[in-house]
Amino acid sequence: MSDKAKKLRLGILISGRGSNLIAIANNIRAGTLPGVEIAIVISNTASACGLAVTRELGLPGEVFVSKGRPRAEHDADVAACLRRHNVDLVVLAGYMRLLSPEFIHAFPNRIVNIHPSLLPAFPGIDAQHQAFDYGVKVTGCTVHFVDEHLDHGPIILQRAIPVLDTDDADSLSARILKEEHKAYSEAIARIASGDYEFQGRRYVRRKA
Ligand code: GAR
Repeated sequence: MSDKAKKLRLGILISGRGSNLIAIANNIRAGTLPGVEIAIVISNTASACGLAVTRELGLPGEVFVSKGRPRAEHDADVAACLRRHNVDLVVLAGYMRLLSPEFIHAFPNRIVNIHPSLLPAFPGIDAQHQAFDYGVKVTGCTVHFVDEHLDHGPIILQRAIPVLDTDDADSLSARILKEEHKAYSEAIARIASGDYEFQGRRYVRRKA
């Protein structure tokens, strides 16, 4: 990914609203996420609002309905689509489906996810509500590589925000989401730059 001439081709996987997809697309268009292009958007549900957004943005989109299908079989179709579109980096943007080990092994250190908490705190669904109900004073979002364990792979970056006494779970979720929209593009920019490397679990800037 350090070949500066070639753009990093993203395959963005969605299940719903698609606001992180919009933020990434807008940053690419605005020139604040250089060296990156969206090759394909894939949804696992036909009703995802993000599909309409995909069309409005003029991006290619495909649907592979996952409901009722064996996980490995569905994932194989998605993987084949990503390969057809020469995707370099698989970006999970509100993709509410666990991935099969076969899929994860097919894209080693090439799948990233955004999670609305400071991992390893509050993995799984409804992380914002989990954090709010627990009573933490600081929470945020995490962009991380995906491995075989839930919300567990090496962290690319995190952004923290305070939990205010005046917050409810919805206002907190909205502030986290605002931060997500910046954090995801920053994390992708780090990968595209080729300036970062793994040191064990740590993903750090290469020494000059
Ligand atoms: C985002 O808040 C994202 O962090 C979360 O789903 C939302 C998707 O919103 N993902 C997870 O909870 C994954 N564990 P979006 O469709 O508007 O981008």
